[in-house]
Amino acid sequence: MPIAIERATKRFGNVAALDEISLTVEDGSFVTILGASGCGKSTLLNMVAGLEAPSSGQITLDGRPITKPGPDRVVVFQRAGLYPWLSLRDNIAFGLKMRGKVEWREVDRVIELIGLRGFETHRPYELSGGMQQRVSIARALVMHPRVLLMDEPFGALDAQTRENMQEFLTELWERIRATVIFVTHDIDEAIILGSRLVVMSARPGRISLDENVPLGRPRNWDMSTTPEFLQLKRAARQILAGEGH
Ligand SMILES: Nc1ncnc2c1ncn2[C@@H]1O[C@H](COP(=O)(O)OP(=O)(O)O)[C@@H](O)[C@H]1O
Ligand SMILES: [Mg+2]
Repeated sequence: MPIAIERATKRFGNVAALDEISLTVEDGSFVTILGASGCGKSTLLNMVAGLEAPSSGQITLDGRPITKPGPDRVVVFQRAGLYPWLSLRDNIAFGLKMRGKVEWREVDRVIELIGLRGFETHRPYELSGGMQQRVSIARALVMHPRVLLMDEPFGALDAQTRENMQEFLTELWERIRATVIFVTHDIDEAIILGSRLVVMSARPGRISLDENVPLGRPRNWDMSTTPEFLQLKRAARQILAGEGH
């Protein structure tokens, strides 16, 4: 039982951001957390990352409480946050360098994995937004984290690039099968990517739905017109719509 969130509550002063969230994430699963803006998704992810502590309750990894960030849990944010003065290859190697040792063969393997061979010496400004976000994912993967935490990683991309990236991430995950917790406010994205869908409602953030996504793999966007997809979408939408006041 790798990640266990047990009755985690988070308050910021008077604001109750999360209320008694309980969630277990199995090794090798792809869980998407869907919720409206402000419902506490980032707060939840940051607690798993060890960037925030719960006000009460606890979060454990392999039974040990998470108290600080660690290389076993890497976060990919909406903004790629690459170092503009470093090449693509050096950006990906940066975390390993900080840890002391760079396995360049591994760096190149990951560059191959994200499909950016030939761009090794490019600086971030020479890359498209989608490419930059792939580098950001590569930078996380090269650390071989147990858990990949993704906070609306495609939220800043245009619609077409976003769809390409969703396809890219699906294919990537089908190959590497790392544990992924992916946060988004986009219903379609949450369903097409996840093996399991968790929907949160807001103020305070609570889990309103937690279901396996009844779609096979490999995934593709054609599945978004199947009855299974549409049924889950309707259920998720009802929860999100229930808070429009
Ligand atoms: N550091 C903070 N200080 C005070 N309030 C915060 C802080 N972080 C988040 N909040 C509040 O907690 C709630 C949840 O925020 P957040 O986790 O960012 O939501 P989401 O990622 O779903 O948009 C919001 O009401 C937000 O204003
Ligand atoms: Mg957020």
